[in-house]
Amino acid sequence: DPIELRETAAGPVGRSLLCTHFGCRVQWEAETGSYHCPCHEARFDGEGRPVYGPALRPLRSLRVEVEGGQVLVGDP
Ligand code: FES
Repeated sequence: DPIELRETAAGPVGRSLLCTHFGCRVQWEAETGSYHCPCHEARFDGEGRPVYGPALRPLRSLRVEVEGGQVLVGDP
């Protein structure tokens, strides 16, 4: 599944890029500061919260750990 990994002051964070409506891949749009789903026009803010369209749940957050030079990603 497509995911996004980012480095933050609190450490690495991960997010699923599957729309929570019917699972299409969302795309980050820097010009609007939001994720856009091309299937039914849902939008999610920079924190992954739904702000427009049919999706009601936020993009899924993922647990990220770095161990021995490997990045491990899983459910929280
Ligand atoms: Fe994303 Fe429907 S699958 S809005």
